[in-house]
This record gives sequence, C-alpha cells and structure tokens, in this order.
Amino acid sequence: MKYSLAKRLVSSVPGLRTFGARLFTFFPTAVSPYIYHFMRAVLFRDNAQRLKTFKVCFDKLAASGDAGDYLEFGVARGTSMISSHRLAKQHRLDSMRFFAFDSFAGLPSDEEQFTRGDMAYSQKDFSHFCEKAGVELSRVTPVPGFFEATLTDDMLAKLDIKPGRHIVHVDCDLYESTVLVLRFVEPVLEVGSIIMFDDWHSFDYKQDPENWGEQRAFGEWAEHEKFEKLAEHPDWNCAFIKTKA
Ligand SMILES: C[S@@+](CC[C@H](N)C(=O)[O-])C[C@H]1O[C@@H](n2cnc3c(N)ncnc32)[C@H](O)[C@@H]1O
Repeated sequence: MKYSLAKRLVSSVPGLRTFGARLFTFFPTAVSPYIYHFMRAVLFRDNAQRLKTFKVCFDKLAASGDAGDYLEFGVARGTSMISSHRLAKQHRLDSMRFFAFDSFAGLPSDEEQFTRGDMAYSQKDFSHFCEKAGVELSRVTPVPGFFEATLTDDMLAKLDIKPGRHIVHVDCDLYESTVLVLRFVEPVLEVGSIIMFDDWHSFDYKQDPENWGEQRAFGEWAEHEKFEKLAEHPDWNCAFIKTKA
C-alpha cells in the first residue's frame, strides 16, 4: 500500500529507479523544484496519501501561532524533509529550523522486513536532493551519526533546541531507534508539540502490531499518556499532539 504502481514499475527495472528518482537533479536549480513536485504529483502519487497527515500537523501548529522547530529522525535522501519544508513555507513559518538526524549509512540493525544497511544515502545525497527540490539549506542542520551516539542532552544544548511546540517526525522504522528518539525529545516537548510516526502501520500484517516498531516504542514511553491522536492514515502514518503538561 505504501508503494504506488509507478514506483513498483520503476523499481522492477534495474537502474530505472535510481535514474527516475534522480531525474530532477539534472536540471538547473531554477526549474528542478517544479520538476520534482510535478513528478511527485503525477508519478509518485502515494506521497500525497502520506502528506494528508503532514498537512493536518502543520495546519494545527501554524494555527497555534507559536511554532517551534522541525526535527526529523531518519531522513534518507530527504523526501519527507522536502515536503515538510514546503508546508512550512506555505504556512509562513519562517523561523522554523529543520534538523535532520540520520546515520547517512542506513539502518543500524534488522527488525523483520527492515534490514541493516537499508536506506543508505549519504549526507551529500540528502543535501543535493533537498536543494534541487527547493529546500533552503541554510535552514537545515544535518546531524550525522547513529542515534546511539548523537541523541544526547549535550546535542540538544549544542543545537540550541529549547522547549517549545515542535514537530517531531519519526521515520527511523525500528523499535530500538524510536526508543532513543523519544527519550531524546522528551525534555523539549511542550503542550502543543506534535509527533508523527511514519511507520505506524508497518507491522499491521502481524497479529500484535502494537508490539513492534514505532508503535511499541510509543506505547512503552511513559509520556504517551500526555498525547492525543491528531491524524492517521489507516495503513501508513499516525500523528499525536501533546495535550497535557
Ligand atoms: C525509511 S528511511 C527515512 C525515509 C525518509 N524520511 C524519507 O521520507 O525519504 C529510515 C532512515 O532511518 C535511519 N535510521 C534508522 N535508525 C537509525 C539510527 N539508530 N541512527 C541513525 N539513523 C537511523 C536510516 O539511516 C534511514 O535513512
């Protein structure tokens, strides 16, 4: 369900997927963002399904009039970062900063269908894709490294991430990675903060999806009781907003 017909077709021909995904990057930056968003709208329309949840989150945060930063955990080559930056621009959230946490070496371990080393895109690739898709790189801070090493209190201070109404996008697939993310962001999430889980439904084929991946990590996190569901795609992502201090 997560992959459109066009994407599956492209994936089935060796080399075509890589070429198709990079096509827009061969154009000058003045026009490449238009080509990127045209391709997303026409060829890879599954992203539009995913974005329904993003839109609810950004609408809600913008309406609060006091938006914090955007923290994404698992950025790969930037697809969701590009979408979030675009939504922030549309809402004129001009002071929002974008933090991109990733190993830039792929997944650190296995969990069922997720395999160690999957989604390995370099930081250079990430920045290049973002720039060519129209992201203002001056607003983006990549934080390279495995979460085990990078998600520390010292890092929060170093990046000057203070308590506020932030959007946290968890797209790191794995239970163990999500545990580290939730522990890291806990001190800076004020009431009104939003957490989006991209892989909320990745284990729906199991009898107990709540005991796997991001769902399991959120369920075990004591703070989860302070959150209410804000939006959900029935077989993709899910977002929660903090309602209690
Ligand atoms: C599904 S991909 C992210 C997709 C991206 N958000 C997008 O929209 O294209 C998952 C990413 O999580 C990263 N990741 C998962 N666990 C991690 C960990 N413990 N430390 C660093 N990166 C991790 C992987 O490197 C990978 O790039």
